Amino acid sequence: MLILGIESSCDETGVALIDSSLGLLAHRIHTQIDMHRAFGGVVPELASRDHIRRVLALTDEVLEEAGRSRGDLTAVAVTEGPGLAGALLVGVSVAHAIGYALGLPVIGVHHLEGHLLASLLADPAPRFPFVALLVSGGHTQFMRVQRFGSYELLGETLDDAAGEAFDKTAQLLGMCYPGGPAVSALAEKGRPGAFEFPRPMIHSPDLNMSFSGLKTAVLNTVTKAEHPEDPQFRADVARGFVDAVTDVLTAKAVRALKKTRLSSLVVAGGVSANKQLRAALTAAVEARRGKIFFPPLALCTDNGAMIAVAGLKRLEAMTEEEREACRHRLAFT
Ligand code: KG4
Ligand code: ZN
Repeated sequence: MLILGIESSCDETGVALIDSSLGLLAHRIHTQIDMHRAFGGVVPELASRDHIRRVLALTDEVLEEAGRSRGDLTAVAVTEGPGLAGALLVGVSVAHAIGYALGLPVIGVHHLEGHLLASLLADPAPRFPFVALLVSGGHTQFMRVQRFGSYELLGETLDDAAGEAFDKTAQLLGMCYPGGPAVSALAEKGRPGAFEFPRPMIHSPDLNMSFSGLKTAVLNTVTKAEHPEDPQFRADVARGFVDAVTDVLTAKAVRALKKTRLSSLVVAGGVSANKQLRAALTAAVEARRGKIFFPPLALCTDNGAMIAVAGLKRLEAMTEEEREACRHRLAFT
């Protein structure tokens, strides 16, 4: 089976091709970051228009790289939500147009399921069951994943997502959107313990989290500083922030493993690209003799490969009748 995956939920156009026996054949991501930077965040209308410009060209590129043609496709998988409505509509329209023209099944994928299943493209890949930590710009959640399609929410942030806190901290420190990678790099030059920021809910017995208080603590520190532009001050704040987020997520991840009595942790979503978080989680899980899995670094943030792999898994789990039910009839016969 050959699956085309399309992702257009926010500011990245991602397209990928997965072969059920050969794995990921090709993937392309076009990021709109430079376009939105001047506005300090994603402008939905600009995002939609740019997806329209890119998506078919990227589709042709992945087909060419893989040495396949549209006629070789078995199905099209596309992000159906959550995300920006106009941006999603572009991917969904293109997926259905391709499906309609070629008489293919079109499979709608939940964006978070895509992030979670991107880990299946890691080598080695995780085996079910596992605990998943989904940590992105919009979500911070722990999930018990018993098998493909069985996702139980164990706990989540009660306010801001961790990625959102990264982006806000970056902004407060005068850095561009999206701030995660920049804060992470700056934190490496910071002194541990120079700023002890709060670790909200770290001791609560559940698996919920909160990051808005941490954001406010960074805001207060920067606002009160005499020389907020001082490079060492900025690095120390970044370090204090990253350490606080890392401590909370690590403590909760260990709690999730204990509660579920599972030994594998899968970490996914944009923030899973974070170096400090990866190191802390790896140390904590390995100390428990557990196993930890991350998607390949290039597939942590939004991409088409995660949607293609989720679509493939869905297709494999379907009966023949179910596949037929999502197949478009040939448009031109
Ligand atoms: O998963 P994603 O690409 O989009 C959403 O579904 O939200 O995640 C984007 C988020 C942004 O908040 C970005 O700042 C954060 O992931 N991010 C990082 C890193 N790379 C991306 N945060 C911390 N460290 C990174 N290296
Ligand atoms: Zn995402």
